[in-house]
Amino acid sequence: MSECLNPAPKATCVGVMDDAHALERAGHDVIHLEKGEPDFASPALVVEAAVEALRAGKTFYTDSSGLPELREAISEHLRLTDGVEVPPARILINSGSSPALLSTFLAVCGPGDEVVLPDPAYPSYRRLIELAGATPVPVPTRGHGFRFTAEIAEPYVRPATRAILINFPSNPVGATATTEQLRDFARLGPLVISDEVYRGLSYTGEPDPSILQVQPEAVMLNSFSKAFTMTGWRLGFTVVPEALLARMKIIQQDGFVCANAFVQWAAIAAVRNAEKIVSGPRAEFAHRRDTLLAGLAELGFAVPHRPLGAFYAFARLPDGHHDAYAFAADLLHEAHVAITPGPEFGAEGAAFVRFSYSTPAERISEGLARIGAFLDRHQPDSSRR
Ligand SMILES: Cc1ncc(COP(=O)(O)O)c(C=O)c1O
Repeated sequence: MSECLNPAPKATCVGVMDDAHALERAGHDVIHLEKGEPDFASPALVVEAAVEALRAGKTFYTDSSGLPELREAISEHLRLTDGVEVPPARILINSGSSPALLSTFLAVCGPGDEVVLPDPAYPSYRRLIELAGATPVPVPTRGHGFRFTAEIAEPYVRPATRAILINFPSNPVGATATTEQLRDFARLGPLVISDEVYRGLSYTGEPDPSILQVQPEAVMLNSFSKAFTMTGWRLGFTVVPEALLARMKIIQQDGFVCANAFVQWAAIAAVRNAEKIVSGPRAEFAHRRDTLLAGLAELGFAVPHRPLGAFYAFARLPDGHHDAYAFAADLLHEAHVAITPGPEFGAEGAAFVRFSYSTPAERISEGLARIGAFLDRHQPDSSRR
């Protein structure tokens, strides 16, 4: 195995999920507060469109960059919702944002280059940057209430910096950004790569801004996975600046050929009904978030950044508990509640865990009750609140 592929840590996000599934197969009732995907069924109108596409024989390769009809629909969607003019030629359709992230890093950086990103952040960023031969430069955010801003990123920007990676609404913190904050990132100078896969799922009452509204030359990645509740369909799209287009297209052609044809046809229906599809999960997530946060506070988990988007809360272990990996493993095996250890998201996540509220409110409440009983059995000292 290549040196750049870090050995697996004690438990990965997927590792927790695998253990949880093994317990379920053994007959246990596991409460899933670890999952990075919405628990809602994919929209019926998209399912119908996919079935129709399959019946109509849409099973062949498409243009490598994606179906022209879908790229047109996305271009129109960006114009109507964000007020940005993006020609379909600058939109690449990918099999989810994960291959798009890899393509972007391969196109943008290599050995000797650095990519500045927040800590904590989605774990795959670091590994994909390393796969491209470059070095991830994590910016600690804990001392700033887990708010990643241009101001704290700036000292980490140096001549080797090829890009600054941002993610709003964010995983694992649930942070959102204002238009002005996005503009500040663009002002730092290097290319901004903006992962906007959780856009649409925010609870501020305001639409989330996109980097494209302030920096048309940024790379913007989005996906049908989260807001459209279509993780298993594997579809995303990337808006690529002119200067990177040829390189990204070659990587796409050689590495991925094209995204699933019938899924692309179905996604046209998704894009055209975006608000109708996203508003349901958004309202439900907001309600669940409140249930989770109230319960965590009672149990002594501090959540320094109140999540405003995505479907995660990043919480410090109650007083006296320090090892997030041991805590998550013991909680899973004793109380059958699955959560993700914070260090998975970076060094700043020590003594933190991520709760996902991608499970119905009553299951969240049951999970909290089990965690309460678990904490009662595991009081490390008398300091527990
Ligand atoms: C911040 C972030 N970006 C990207 C992804 C990858 O999503 P997908 O490949 O399904 O589009 C995830 C998945 O959890 C994520 O949390």
